[in-house]
Amino acid sequence: MAPFDVTSLLARRAAQSDEGAIVRMSQRARELKAKGQDIASLTIGEPDFDTPAYIQAAATEAMRKGLTHYSPVAGIPELRQALARKLKEENGLDYAASEIVLANGAKQAIANAVLALIEPGDEVMLLSPYWVSYEITVRLAGGVPVILKASVEENFKVPAQRIKAALTDKTKLLMLNSPNNPTGAVWTKPELEALAEVVRDHPRLMVLSDEIYEYILFDGKMMSFASLPGMRERAITVNGFSKSFAMTGWRLGYSAGPAPLAVAMARLQSGLTAGANSFVQQAALTALASPRDCVEEMRRRYQARRDMVVTALGAIPDLRLAPIPATFYAFPNVGAYLGRKAGNHVMDSVETLCDWLLEEHGVATVPGSAFGDPDCIRLSFATGEAELAKALERFAKGLKRLT
Ligand SMILES: Cc1ncc(COP(=O)(O)O)c(C=O)c1O
Repeated sequence: MAPFDVTSLLARRAAQSDEGAIVRMSQRARELKAKGQDIASLTIGEPDFDTPAYIQAAATEAMRKGLTHYSPVAGIPELRQALARKLKEENGLDYAASEIVLANGAKQAIANAVLALIEPGDEVMLLSPYWVSYEITVRLAGGVPVILKASVEENFKVPAQRIKAALTDKTKLLMLNSPNNPTGAVWTKPELEALAEVVRDHPRLMVLSDEIYEYILFDGKMMSFASLPGMRERAITVNGFSKSFAMTGWRLGYSAGPAPLAVAMARLQSGLTAGANSFVQQAALTALASPRDCVEEMRRRYQARRDMVVTALGAIPDLRLAPIPATFYAFPNVGAYLGRKAGNHVMDSVETLCDWLLEEHGVATVPGSAFGDPDCIRLSFATGEAELAKALERFAKGLKRLT
């Protein structure tokens, strides 16, 4: 008898994976490094800074005090209140503490919202380029992703009129991510107002506004969609501590939304994972209550790197780059290089190009196809300045070789 193999028993949903290309590229980069090759990596989607020391100290102190037990499912009351104040003061949003739900990362807050709203067959609008986890979460809920694409010339923002034209009776949710991963785009007030106009005319539509890169902003203003007139009841705002406070490994995010939705989301989370980590919530209280010098210092460093990236990419012919007002990502369009050759090696897709840049030029990047755009490449500048400079030089040198 053949040995038992569980593979044939796996549910179809278990085949979904959200970070295939990113994981594949970082893994390959690690393998080459292990072989002794000098690889400069721009793949990683998290701050290269460690969590500020005062936040670490607050977590240690909380553990010492014995705050190591289960927390209430929706989060500790003091943190929910502190976040309600933060949303009011910084984002002009009016939420009661009871409408805020802490989760194990913004990722779980997003999953809570999608699972709470989407029935099988409901359509969810994704604005491409988009963070690929959205699509997986929608599919897990049985929803149907409807993808609308914006080009580099549109600064990667789908105009409201195109959104309006694509809405159907089945569209229930639109995923908005500003500032955006992977493009760094930020929606302006008039752009958000035009979207709100569309939402007003479509009574079944909710908007999930993912604002996790809020503090990594260089130019212009960041605005919360839910702060627009009438949108408080039509939106769910998601945010977290991962990017702003360099706390990716701590797993703490949150949502703010109308009470019945907040209650439903907490109920689902109760069944899946229960409350977020108790001492991390104490550390988050300290993060919110302390001066933001560390956050500002990180933002300043990202901005200097953004400038380096824009200068370096700006000097590469035939490459198209939209402004990068926020985040630590650049998303250049390299469409003009696809089809070109290095010797006999044809760059027949962006994956081939990224593989070749890694193998031949020692620079690791992520193909834009992982985010819905097969003409682009994502470069993360959440990496030290020396490594970044080296990576950019190799990237430019690689492209220059293609004819
Ligand atoms: C757009 C976006 N939303 C949410 C998240 C998830 O954040 P968290 O670490 O809080 O789960 C990420 C992480 O890469 C992201 O890029």
